[in-house]
Amino acid sequence: MIALERLHKTYPARGGARHAAVTALDDVSLHVQPGEIFGVIGRSGAGKSTLIRTVNLLERPDQGVVRVGGVDLTALSPRELQQQRQRIGMVFQHFNLLQSRTVAGNVRYPMQLAGGRTAAEMDRRVDELLTLVGLAHLKDRHPSQLSGGQKQRVGIARALANEPHVLLCDEATSALDPETTEQILSLLADVSARLKLTVLLITHEMHVIHSLCDRVAVMEQGRIVEQGRVLDVFLDPQHATTRSLLAHAGFLLDEGAATVPGRPICRSRPWARRPSRRCSTACASSTASVSICWKAA
Ligand SMILES: Nc1ncnc2c1ncn2[C@@H]1O[C@H](COP(=O)(O)OP(=O)(O)O)[C@@H](O)[C@H]1O
Ligand SMILES: [Mg+2]
Repeated sequence: MIALERLHKTYPARGGARHAAVTALDDVSLHVQPGEIFGVIGRSGAGKSTLIRTVNLLERPDQGVVRVGGVDLTALSPRELQQQRQRIGMVFQHFNLLQSRTVAGNVRYPMQLAGGRTAAEMDRRVDELLTLVGLAHLKDRHPSQLSGGQKQRVGIARALANEPHVLLCDEATSALDPETTEQILSLLADVSARLKLTVLLITHEMHVIHSLCDRVAVMEQGRIVEQGRVLDVFLDPQHATTRSLLAHAGFLLDEGAATVPGRPICRSRPWARRPSRRCSTACASSTASVSICWKAA
């Protein structure tokens, strides 16, 4: 569904010639299958946002091909690109809501831009989407009257307005507290399964990958240094960066710590009261060397 082939992107030096140009993408190739939730993880500055922004060409690569649904976006006219972009929803870390519009007005906005729907059709779709994200009762509020989690629900509803087949999430939960993060992650999982979306998700948090993704790629200095099924990568990380990210998030524990009896142990999701879908899958075939072990509970 998403095919990125050999992408390169260099930003010119900021602040004059004394500063070096930054290579944000260095020969990056990535393939996301239809219906898959694919995570990209890496430290700040690794190139994650640049990568996800190439998928709808908000960032144009210097070299390489971007194909979504079989269409080479780099070869399209501006008008054709605009049409293709409507089928690619995007969710942002800081929500990017229009403060002057109500919740309903924000969700309606991309439909107005796209055209082709009557006012009544847009109203119906807004109601449908707000019900989907659990915000029907707040449709007349303004963003300033919402909590962070509610704002992100609006962001998700807005991203789905034009019935995209691809959803891009750039640090969608990074501005939220742990409990709200859990709720938004489970909403994303639910919505993407129901609507059969293909999701590319960027995060610097390992537990987000763990909760939601089928496969993961690890980025470091503009390159993908490791990728594979989440379970495989978590159980047997190959690259030092992956190991360090896992260790930092508490996913690499010694056996003793992971199997203390009598309480649920998941250092990465200590706030969660039950294992996630991914959690139980992982447990079924994991060894106790990974903290995704709820068996002791
Ligand atoms: N518009 C820009 N101009 C110059 N440099 C940029 C720009 N956007 C990003 N960069 C640089 O490119 C690198 C990758 O950035 P980014 O893709 O935002 O990484 P991440 O999302 O992983 O934190 C960083 O060194 C960043 O400073
Ligand atoms: Mg970023």
